[in-house]
Amino acid sequence: MNKQPWWQSTVVYQIYPRSFQDTNNDGIGDLRGIIQQLDYLKTLGIGAIWLCPVYQSPNTDNGYDISDYEAIMTEFGTMADMDELIAAAKDHGIKIVMDLVVNHTSDQHKWFIESRQGKDNPYRDYYVWADPVDGHAPNALTSTFSGSAWQFDEASSQYYLHLFAPQQPDLNWENKHVRQAVYNLMNFWIEKGVGGFRMDVIDLIGKQPLKGITGNGPMLHRYLHEMNRATFGETDLMTVGETWGATPEIAKQYSDPAREELSMVFQFEHSGIDQQDGKDKWDLAPFSVPKLKAILSKWQVALGSQGWNSLFWNNHDLPRIVSRWGNDKEYREQSAKAFAILLHLMKGTPYIYQGEEIGMTNYPIQDIAEADDIETINMYHERLAAGYSKANIIQSINAKGRDNARTPMQWDTSKNAGFTKGKPWLHVNPNYQQINVKATLADKDSIFYTYQRLIALRRQNTVIVNGEYELEQETAANVFAYRRVDADTELLIVVNLAETENEYTAPASSKQLVLSNYSREKKPLIRGEAQQLRPYEAFVYVLKGALDEH
Ligand code: GLC
Ligand code: CA
Repeated sequence: MNKQPWWQSTVVYQIYPRSFQDTNNDGIGDLRGIIQQLDYLKTLGIGAIWLCPVYQSPNTDNGYDISDYEAIMTEFGTMADMDELIAAAKDHGIKIVMDLVVNHTSDQHKWFIESRQGKDNPYRDYYVWADPVDGHAPNALTSTFSGSAWQFDEASSQYYLHLFAPQQPDLNWENKHVRQAVYNLMNFWIEKGVGGFRMDVIDLIGKQPLKGITGNGPMLHRYLHEMNRATFGETDLMTVGETWGATPEIAKQYSDPAREELSMVFQFEHSGIDQQDGKDKWDLAPFSVPKLKAILSKWQVALGSQGWNSLFWNNHDLPRIVSRWGNDKEYREQSAKAFAILLHLMKGTPYIYQGEEIGMTNYPIQDIAEADDIETINMYHERLAAGYSKANIIQSINAKGRDNARTPMQWDTSKNAGFTKGKPWLHVNPNYQQINVKATLADKDSIFYTYQRLIALRRQNTVIVNGEYELEQETAANVFAYRRVDADTELLIVVNLAETENEYTAPASSKQLVLSNYSREKKPLIRGEAQQLRPYEAFVYVLKGALDEH
């Protein structure tokens, strides 16, 4: 594995700094809190942290509205803290991957403050401005956060584009000065020694809004290639694009090394399984294991030899996996481990979102007053006005709302789960009395140690990094089984994704048991011998060769 990039054999841990660890008791997580927890992350075994935005921001969208890319958000600390974090993480063998939010800025960014001064301002063309059409917005484009994507500016009688909140005006990537300014700020961070970039909604930068084109615009890949050449191209940095609209064909374009664009992208096809066809995420539909198998297998195979997959269940925009597709009550431990095992032995770079490794759950609300997230709150009012019942909307929020993943990290059983001694910015889930880091570290059978083991296995075994993926076709509908295969080794991964028992018959006799989420006798699987899988039971056997473990 000589020349293989480091990010292909490591696991990335995502931190939402606002909710991770508060050290000055203002109720908001901070950079010093992350520094304080590096030993914990090292114990887990991860090789990189994707840090959600820590730049100066008015926080309309919790840091995804940046007013200065070369300054740290006051609540999070100082640039000296940031330098210390990068250095301390390095000492722990951990790289810091920055969140690069450059589809839009904050309306408080100096570029936008200039831009809105008038049509003759040199920064006017940094953003997307358009004249009214028949006294209305230029077209019907809508914002992800509800309503029109066009905001009228009285002073100049023009509209500007915001695909998110009006406080997040879209940059105009057709302007080469904009592109150069972005490359400059990226180089600023590269010189500071960061390990890479996660690129926020990057598939929107090639937009042609007046033609109604937002995602996957015609210039997208040319801009990314240009960015690659102007910034990280000759380094070993890891880059991952957030691309809601990627198909496997498009993902290959981004991640084929020969094209010199990105390391990989986040695709979201599987995230659409539990929503109604053609509707949006709030329109709930039941989870389907056959659909999950079909989608993930398609991606595993399509990017098997060209390009690279990212593997994730959670992030700061998605509900907690154990609540979403697992069972966060009687089978919380088993289902959390089942989803971990299923994902982490696939081919690609796995991502863990803070708290996932201890099985943190969603936080249901009763009333919209408890919500913080701008997307959730706007949707609530939009749907209320459209005639939806309050109960129906709250049900959608509890299933899919972004606050679910953003409640503070649960460290121990002390007040506020050890997150802060002050008043936390967002409610702490009361289940911290049972679910917390301290408890999970003390229990050798905990979810944490399943993750730790999976991370170590990937570091030590090339079959997990590079082996081919083969779906086991002949299984019960709710059983997801696959093999990883290379010249020397073959692994069998079997996961029952149901809270009922299912039968499973091994296709071949096995050698050693590697990992399981129920206690199993150490005896091997016998070819053709049927067995009952318990609710959410998951196990991994070696079929050929041997695994390395130390
Ligand atoms: C991405 C981020 C999300 C943010 C949005 C706008 O989807 O992950 O949190 O609200 O972009 O920046
Ligand atoms: Ca703080």
